[in-house]
Amino acid sequence: MVTKKLILGAIAVAALASTAWVVDVAAQSNVLQDRLQNMRAMGGSFRPIAAVVQGQSQDLDAAATAARTMADQAKRITTLYPAGSGRDGNPESRARPEIWSNRAEFERLAGNLATAAEALATAAASKNVDAIRTAMGPTQQACGGCHGGPPASGGPFRFERPQ
Ligand code: HEC
Repeated sequence: MVTKKLILGAIAVAALASTAWVVDVAAQSNVLQDRLQNMRAMGGSFRPIAAVVQGQSQDLDAAATAARTMADQAKRITTLYPAGSGRDGNPESRARPEIWSNRAEFERLAGNLATAAEALATAAASKNVDAIRTAMGPTQQACGGCHGGPPASGGPFRFERPQ
């Protein structure tokens, strides 16, 4: 709905001003969808891995594929938060301004995840359940660096979910 309003607003403004602004709004909205997809892909990747670790599944191929996805997505995080893509450009975003004002810390935590997820991908590729179990804890902790707490909670770089 908000997206629709934004597009309609953009069209109205475009009639008055330049079309460059329309392109800009569309680009910022795509980057928001991209980064929510990026986070959801990582969240979903835990499922087949956890199932193997908990003995509910023997599908080590699925776990290896999921861990590879998570590691690849983790490396993309820092590219998905360009300047101006916070709530100023995307009212639906939960990204806090600290992502831009404290960029070094944001990138450090993203880097922690990239390292942990790469180790998880290596463990999963070896098809060794004990190694996967060992590598999973640090990966979850690395998500917690930015997220911590219950799903609605914000963390250092995300606004709390509106109730
Ligand atoms: C470097 C910081 C950082 C790390 C590390 C991180 N996240 Fe996120 N995550 C964010 C931010 C910021 C948002 C909010 C983005 C927005 O609303 O624009 C978010 C949003 C999410 C969302 C909500 C997506 C939606 O549809 O609203 C999920 C789910 C999520 N992250 C899961 C994870 C998982 C799982 C991991 C670990 C594999 C992880 N995150 C690691 C910063 C991080």
